[in-house]
Amino acid sequence: MKLFDVYPLWDIEPVRVEGCKVYDENGTEYLDLYGGHAVISVGHSHPYYVRKLTEQLNRIAFYSNSVVNNLQKEVAEKLGKLSGYEDYSLFLINSGAEANENALKLASFHNGRKRVVAFRKAFHGRTSVAVGVTDIPAYKAPVNGGQDVIFLPFNDLTAVEETLNKRDVSSVIIEGIQGVGGIRVPDTEFLQGLSRICKDTGTVLVLDEIQSGYGRSGKFFAHQYAGIRPDIITVAKGMGNGFPIAGVMIGPEFKPVHGQLGTTFGGNHLACTAAIAVLDIMKEENLIDHVNRVGNYLIGELGKFPQIKEVRGHGLMIGLEFEQPIKEMRSKLLFEEKVFTGVTGAHVFRLLPPLCLSMQEAEEFLKRFKNIVS
Ligand SMILES: Cc1ncc(COP(=O)(O)O)c(C=O)c1O
Repeated sequence: MKLFDVYPLWDIEPVRVEGCKVYDENGTEYLDLYGGHAVISVGHSHPYYVRKLTEQLNRIAFYSNSVVNNLQKEVAEKLGKLSGYEDYSLFLINSGAEANENALKLASFHNGRKRVVAFRKAFHGRTSVAVGVTDIPAYKAPVNGGQDVIFLPFNDLTAVEETLNKRDVSSVIIEGIQGVGGIRVPDTEFLQGLSRICKDTGTVLVLDEIQSGYGRSGKFFAHQYAGIRPDIITVAKGMGNGFPIAGVMIGPEFKPVHGQLGTTFGGNHLACTAAIAVLDIMKEENLIDHVNRVGNYLIGELGKFPQIKEVRGHGLMIGLEFEQPIKEMRSKLLFEEKVFTGVTGAHVFRLLPPLCLSMQEAEEFLKRFKNIVS
């Protein structure tokens, strides 16, 4: 059997990783400003993370969600404390799309409504309800049709008010910072207004922090810049530093009902161990303060490049928009300067490094970036 060819691949195979460095089979070292697509939070192969997972693997890797698993409670307690959401409850699954799928289902169970509001350029995942609220027609198959979704312009409070005032919308879903949409930060007043209108109309506000959460923005969650408290928050990517795990953080007003949500693999022993190790390291190493220091430095320095049309983002979630297509620059950055970066669309670089990127590595990146920028 061969692989189903859905990914355009770079001809590089990483075989070893450490911190913010990736090594291929020839021993070539790459600087990682991509974090395996915003997934690596505490750093590649962090020794504490490796030790905790190895020890757990030798005890028990998996049983089932029909028996007690105290590691799940430990994830919930530590995540609640570090994020400032101790009064919320946690439902564990395996991927970002699953997190959004369950969040939107839960909202619909809760208020009995069906319609969902999402925003232009949104990306929320590939499963059925999640792809339904994603504003990329090419990702939707005919089988995904028939969902009741309205896409509103980003940052347009008047459009939100007009739509939600009909009181027939179950939930609004929005990214803490739009990732695939081009690293677009929602206005503070917009998020505050959105939160207020949702409360006034009985609409559930779902904050998708899958890419922008877990310290990436310089706060635990990007929406915390606006000081709002959404009803439901979804997390994934950085949560397991590469081990598949995701979560739905659920406000106290939601009542759990046995059987409404469920999963076979979600919250297994290994996944929880990865999530606990990540939270322990984030706390121990004050990673969020570190993200602010390095992120502010990078954003400041990148703002001095006259070739860049706009620098957007917070912390270590940075978008660099160019007037011209960036395909060739990105290729040079990877093959000549040995730096991994992400892109979105034809004109925007996405920098999503491991959160442990050092000041020295940030300087090194700027030096290499200068060599290819045109
Ligand atoms: C904001 C956002 N939501 C949801 C997802 C989907 O996550 P997953 O690929 O783990 O299903 C992603 C993935 O890139 C994302 O960036």
